[in-house]
Amino acid sequence: MRRVRAIPTPGRFAMSIPRHLAVIMDGNGRWAERRRRPRMIGHRAGARAVNTTIDFCLEKGIEALTLFAFSSENWGRPAEEVGALMKLFLNALEREVEELDRRGVRLRFIGERARFSPEILARMEDAERRTLRNRRLHLTIAASYGGRQDIAHAARALAEDVAAGRLRPDQIDEAAFGRYTALADLPAPDLFIRTGGDRRISNFLLWQMAYTELWFTEALWPELDAGLLQSALDDFAGRERRFGLTSAQIAGDAASASAGAASATAADAISSYRDSDRTPA
Ligand code: FPP
Repeated sequence: MRRVRAIPTPGRFAMSIPRHLAVIMDGNGRWAERRRRPRMIGHRAGARAVNTTIDFCLEKGIEALTLFAFSSENWGRPAEEVGALMKLFLNALEREVEELDRRGVRLRFIGERARFSPEILARMEDAERRTLRNRRLHLTIAASYGGRQDIAHAARALAEDVAAGRLRPDQIDEAAFGRYTALADLPAPDLFIRTGGDRRISNFLLWQMAYTELWFTEALWPELDAGLLQSALDDFAGRERRFGLTSAQIAGDAASASAGAASATAADAISSYRDSDRTPA
């Protein structure tokens, strides 16, 4: 059976700042085309917006940031664009990792990494090793990633454990399955942001975003700044997250929790979502 060391959950109710932010960075190509520049110029500007987002998360105390940098479907783009994106990716790894490490950022990658060149792969592994002990911000780059692919891999690993006798079928539930998916040691994303005007999830973190709050903006990714990120946070802070329960249950449970009373109702339902993928080792 798979065991996962979780990052601890501080409070279950008060959440004006998301613990985990997930982002689809869309609109680089259109940003460049509107300026009659090659699409790659948009991706380069997009890399600057990545730094803006990391700075913002560090400043706000957001614990985890997951960025969708390259989908499994993106390999189908014109070879020239894929090649240029790989170069940008490699440059970013060469340039940014030292500073990220210095700032306490743990860097990880999810997705099918075997598709990357040996040079990029080595840099990815080196960045992960180097930043392994950092805890200020868990930064995950989803690269060659797809949500369905993640779920299929989890199902395969789980089936292997059953076949090997390490897990019984009657032990399989949502929590057990979740431990086989990516990001199993992190709380599920609280807030999802997508730039570029489209209102869809596009095969990103399908398992993990069951109760994530969604926020969309027409702004293109290179236009992103701290003000826009703050607007997303302000909107998030005003939302009532009910996790399938009623307002009264959420309000009642928050009150009893703040009074220190033990609660086995709404709190359990909420934490079963937020902690469903985590079992402290
Ligand atoms: C989507 O915009 C963006 C991408 C496929 C690439 C994302 C890459 C970056 C933001 C830069 C580098 C990132 C890292 C982590 C170093 P699009 O090309 O689909 O834009 P469009 O919808 O306007 O065509």
